[in-house]
Amino acid sequence: MKLGVIGGAGLLGSTSAYLAGMKGYLGEIKLVDIKENLAKCHVMDMGQAFAAFSKTKVSYAEYKDLGDCDIILISASIPERKVSDRMEYLRDNMKIVKPICEQIKANCKEAVIINATNPVDIFNYIIWKVLGWDRKKILGFNGNDTYRLKWATAEITGKEFGKIDGFCIGEHGANKINLYDQMTYDGKALVLSDADKKAIEDVTANFFAEFQALDSGRTSGWTSAVNIEELIEAVATNSGKKIECSSVLLGEYGYEDVSFGIPVSVGKEGIISYELPELTTEQKYKLNEISKTMQETLNKIDF
Ligand SMILES: NC(=O)c1ccc[n+]([C@@H]2O[C@H](COP(=O)([O-])OP(=O)(O)OC[C@H]3O[C@@H](n4cnc5c(N)ncnc54)[C@H](O)[C@@H]3O)[C@@H](O)[C@H]2O)c1
Repeated sequence: MKLGVIGGAGLLGSTSAYLAGMKGYLGEIKLVDIKENLAKCHVMDMGQAFAAFSKTKVSYAEYKDLGDCDIILISASIPERKVSDRMEYLRDNMKIVKPICEQIKANCKEAVIINATNPVDIFNYIIWKVLGWDRKKILGFNGNDTYRLKWATAEITGKEFGKIDGFCIGEHGANKINLYDQMTYDGKALVLSDADKKAIEDVTANFFAEFQALDSGRTSGWTSAVNIEELIEAVATNSGKKIECSSVLLGEYGYEDVSFGIPVSVGKEGIISYELPELTTEQKYKLNEISKTMQETLNKIDF
């Protein structure tokens, strides 16, 4: 399988390419970026790093070279700036994402798209509309919200990260929902105290603001690479792993014409099945509100 990375010179593009390349399950990784020399530097550097660990090739590419890619990661973006909400990137990133989709449409076969560019849920829907491809092939990267839920739970309860299972759903942003009631530990129901839930909620809700307050111009490239690579691997190996992805919904669970994060089973054609667990009344109410807000935002965008 071949992976194309658009925004491959950037933090997410390069860290995800590095991690996937080091694991060795891809035939080739092709980096596309308007920063041609930086992308070429990554290619020279990664190519050497891979030699001892993996047979994956890495190359610099233009859109015309992406025709044989099975997976395309979009992580192209305007330079990161301090914001209070990822929606603030919408207007500027719209100028990048739409032309990228037009290039993909003109040059690529119907590959699985993984989009990380923020605001992810909105762009996931727009990418689907502009490409006009099977919606199951368009995956929005929201998996780090689920990862952070597990991480915060481990930090606060002292439990082992690897035995914690569960999902965060909804918007990749302030309106996300940690599904505490459905969490498990070592396969059995995980019962969290109200104090633990509040502490986990605080940590996960405040993470973005705390990170942004550092005003570093850098995104969460390491964590995101771990979670983007998980998604790339699920597609490349057709594993069927359940991963939280922003997914275009057309009637599933009563949600129509909108994209937000839910667990889905992921394989070589993208989404195999939608895996939203049964929700409590409160969770369902919150998700309905998120869906309405997303649709209102989408209705205001001209694309
Ligand atoms: N979904 C998530 O959980 C998540 C997590 C972290 C970051 N992000 C988002 O991912 C995006 C990328 O973040 P990053 O830290 O890698 O940013 P970055 O600035 O390091 O990288 C972006 C890259 O895109 C390139 N680029 C810009 N316009 C382009 C174009 N038209 N064609 C090709 N390349 C182009 C830039 O040259 C740059 O190398 C941002 O929108 C960020 O907010 C999402």
